[in-house]
Amino acid sequence: MPRHLSQLLLVVMVNCVLLQALSVHAITRHYKFNVVMRKMSRLCSTKTILTVNGKFPGPTLYAREGDNVLVKVVNHVPHNVTIHWHGVRQIRTGWYDGPAYITQCPIQPGSSFLYNFTITGQRGTLLWHAHINWLRATVHGAIVILPKLGVPYPFPAPHKEAVVVLGEWWKADIETIINRAMQLGVGPNISDSHTINGHPGPMSDCASSQDGFKLNVESGKTYMLRIINAALNDDLFFKIAGHKLTVVEVDAVYTKPYKTDILLITPGQTTNVLLAADQSAGRYLLSISPFMDAPVQVDNTTGTAILHYTNTVSAAARLTLFKPPPQNATLIASKFADSLRSLNSKEYPANVPRTVDHSLFFTIGVGVNPCPNCINGTRVVGTINNLTFVMPSTPILQAYYYNIPGVFTEDFPATPPHKFNYTGSGPKNLRTMNGTRVYRLPYNASVQVILQDTGIISTESHPIHLHGFNFFVVGRGIGNYSPKTSPSTFNLIDPIERNTIGVPTGGWTAIRFRADNPGVWFMHCHFEVHTSWGLKMVFVVENGKRPSETLIPPPKDLLQC
Ligand code: C2O
Repeated sequence: MPRHLSQLLLVVMVNCVLLQALSVHAITRHYKFNVVMRKMSRLCSTKTILTVNGKFPGPTLYAREGDNVLVKVVNHVPHNVTIHWHGVRQIRTGWYDGPAYITQCPIQPGSSFLYNFTITGQRGTLLWHAHINWLRATVHGAIVILPKLGVPYPFPAPHKEAVVVLGEWWKADIETIINRAMQLGVGPNISDSHTINGHPGPMSDCASSQDGFKLNVESGKTYMLRIINAALNDDLFFKIAGHKLTVVEVDAVYTKPYKTDILLITPGQTTNVLLAADQSAGRYLLSISPFMDAPVQVDNTTGTAILHYTNTVSAAARLTLFKPPPQNATLIASKFADSLRSLNSKEYPANVPRTVDHSLFFTIGVGVNPCPNCINGTRVVGTINNLTFVMPSTPILQAYYYNIPGVFTEDFPATPPHKFNYTGSGPKNLRTMNGTRVYRLPYNASVQVILQDTGIISTESHPIHLHGFNFFVVGRGIGNYSPKTSPSTFNLIDPIERNTIGVPTGGWTAIRFRADNPGVWFMHCHFEVHTSWGLKMVFVVENGKRPSETLIPPPKDLLQC
């Protein structure tokens, strides 16, 4: 055999062995999500809520990196439903991403849909949630992605792990609340309580001291908490009395270990922490409380749970309490945001785009438009670059794939139409324009987006979430972004990598990502109230040249609207 041929054969053989070694442990995991109504009692009253499999929060979806996940969602409720796998990159599989009218038609009452995706290059904690109207208030749960079999965590293995899902509870029916608010053009009622794993906890109205989530620990051991903020509208501080927490991962990306006594988690974010049970035996209060440093009304209740040293004390032992930080604790929030760094190790490098092909500047905010039929004669609207996004009735992904005209236009502006002092008192009469516009990106373009908080009514923080990608948070500042001086402050070495980032009140955040995932990808504020008001936009990412850079064909059971 000629030399080059035998070499080629060897390469092919080695590749096969490698491929086998990699794929040998990847398996297909099957889940069935029955969306059903269920009666639940909280805060001294009972109501019927939407759930998956009768649970609130819903079931945890477990997988390993590399696994194929099949979830059959069956809709048994009188509402349209979709499920989004928040943070799962969905490489080339945007058909299964989940946002209604962006990538799919809703699953109508009585029908079902099979989500089918592979978890590639991610490990850690994410969440799944309904992605239509406000259904995610109760239709949500954890996604736990374990490392590949035999691959250790890049930190000492914990003794045990626990999922901690943070949420919000309304005594009234949630869809009624938001529908009414949208009709009247005003803000919806705030929630009545924050919840930890579905419960307001022992300090809430009507609770007994034993109520709610209890985390049992043995003295001397270390635990990993997988904390998820599944609340609709509130950034949350998280704290355990007397204990330090070490952040090791956020949004399914490993971080440099960061030791702190308080966490800040925005809706849509996840945080894995190590907790050493190193205090004297007892019961300690775990609590969540809101962060909001703008004149915006939020649910100011403190959700609670108990950390309990099992080997030494009775359940009746005295509880160690503490005072939650004040709502407007900007300094605590900034310190936490500034302290997180990517692990950036040899195994888990931070591949930050060094150059920028598409430089975008997005003003994000909330404004008011005239509305003769609304209660104040005005309607509150969300905007990006002065555009209020209008949901189409045909999903954008279908319209893009099948070239259906009239659904969207490709003229989403790279910069805002008006320049003004974005974080000053604001132009009083800036009306927004309505439209279903997308920003088109070639495959593999490197993209920088400056997210500039803009005060039209008032400045306010916004947890911005991008579907289909992780991004690097290369910069952050207060006031207006300056193209002259701000870039010199960027961290291009080990910035935090995530899928959701809180843009500070009256400030800006710079993110970078590589458009290496063809498809249609939603970007929006993860405060559900702001999404409802239109603070959202869409990126369309073109196919690359190779089949491996191309969106897969639609599923056979593609839903029609
Ligand atoms: Cu977690 Cu588009 O959302």
